[in-house]
Amino acid sequence: MGMRIKELEFEKFITKSTVQRKVKLLAEQINEDYTDRSPVFLPILNGAFMFAADLMKTIRMPCKVSFVKVSSYAGTASTGQLKTLVGLDESLFNQDVIIVEDIIDTGLTLQKIVLELQSLGTKSVEVIALLRKSGAREKKIDVKYVGFEIENEFVLGYGLDYEGYGRNLTDIYQTKT
Ligand code: IMP
Repeated sequence: MGMRIKELEFEKFITKSTVQRKVKLLAEQINEDYTDRSPVFLPILNGAFMFAADLMKTIRMPCKVSFVKVSSYAGTASTGQLKTLVGLDESLFNQDVIIVEDIIDTGLTLQKIVLELQSLGTKSVEVIALLRKSGAREKKIDVKYVGFEIENEFVLGYGLDYEGYGRNLTDIYQTKT
């Protein structure tokens, strides 16, 4: 079933049940890898809200969840756009941190966030992303957990938006070709 948001036509791409199965699998992997540890999950708003909510339902070790945002502000002409984490109200010193992302496109934002977290004296920083676009694969970001590897098409639903719309959809859609 297709649908339209503003001028774009979308078609169903990954069904709700496929997403749910994958999210459970990813959570089980984290359960295995983090036995006897107590990580802090940092879902990145807004896109990761639905993914994080579902993921956490299957996570069993004691852990904290703290939603953060990435702000961008104009830096000096020489540094260009600087991105930084906002809303971090936990001390992450000596903590095992797991960043929860909706989708990795260029991975540039993520690269900066990982560096920022490492500079806070974290014990470890890993990334879980529901989707990763093919362009990101060549980049030097180590993403430990990936739900779906996709091509470079635009997707929405399950937290992902197009101009603010579509985050509430439980299936994932892609632009019609
Ligand atoms: P990156 O820094 O280029 O990796 O950008 C990643 C961010 O861009 C994601 O967290 C999303 O918010 C947004 N984004 C990238 N691709 C898409 C897409 O296909 N649909 C919706 N949002 C996207």
